[in-house]
Amino acid sequence: MTIEDVAAGAARRLLSVLREIADEVGPRAGAVGRVADYIPALSGVDPAAFGFAVAGVDGEVLGVGDWEVPFSIQSVSKVFSLALALAGGDSLWARVGREPSGNPFNSLVQLEHEDGIPRNPFINAGALVVTDRLLTLTGDARGAVLELLRAESGNPAIDFDAGVARSEAARGDRNAALAHFMASYGNLENPVEQVLEHYFWQCSIAMSCRDLAAAGLFLARHGLRGDGSRLLDRSAAKRINSIMLTCGAYDAAGEFAFRVGLPGKSGVGGGILAVVPGRCTLCVWSPALDRHGNSVAGVDALDRFTTLTGLSVF
Ligand code: DON
Repeated sequence: MTIEDVAAGAARRLLSVLREIADEVGPRAGAVGRVADYIPALSGVDPAAFGFAVAGVDGEVLGVGDWEVPFSIQSVSKVFSLALALAGGDSLWARVGREPSGNPFNSLVQLEHEDGIPRNPFINAGALVVTDRLLTLTGDARGAVLELLRAESGNPAIDFDAGVARSEAARGDRNAALAHFMASYGNLENPVEQVLEHYFWQCSIAMSCRDLAAAGLFLARHGLRGDGSRLLDRSAAKRINSIMLTCGAYDAAGEFAFRVGLPGKSGVGGGILAVVPGRCTLCVWSPALDRHGNSVAGVDALDRFTTLTGLSVF
């Protein structure tokens, strides 16, 4: 028996776990929760869609259900903009914290008492600061995120969804309020309108579970990209995973850690990217959300996966 045979056996076993989860959780997708409608262009998505992909650190990706259907990645993009902002060794930490907020992802309430410094990079306020920094570092924050996603997934067809970006901008009062408020504390380096535009477009990127699982592999590879070059040093990769664990599911981050036991990042498009450091990444998509903005079937599926396989950081 060769190493390939052993690997093929492992892949077959993993695929049978995914199928078991798809059979169990897939039929319930959409039964509980609601599709995000505060961004009107997202409201028409089928709430019963369900896809699940696993990407190994060797780059092989397996999946079930709607795992090759593109969806709006929304806040999952925040992981990639943070990685790019930290990639050059830049320190953001005077401008954004790394504590869970315990508040909704678009909340304004803590900023006033905390000098315009957002609690962490994954709530909207924090992501706006990261986008602002990336804009300063690259001149094109949304383009840098798109380029990274295309390169790491190996899919050059991944793109922005202009309809979603415009729809969010048209209803962007809350994010605009957050950005103006932080600007009043001197915590933005670029004009508010520009930061918002890059943020909305970055959130609008559409891609599949297959591509998102593959694109996130540098987090499972302790910072190494698919071509073997280093995007992040080990410490920065560890830190991003840590913040995903403590803040990636907003005011339900504790519940997510309790049930799933992995670093994860959700988005209101219904996607969740999770990382098993040293082993694999997981991406699940199902658009019906709980009241915190996390995919109901997505969290169920990840919970089942770590329970069935024992693959968790704990
Ligand atoms: O800024 C927003 O409201 C959206 N573009 C992203 C929010 C999001 O995905 C939060 N996720 N659970």
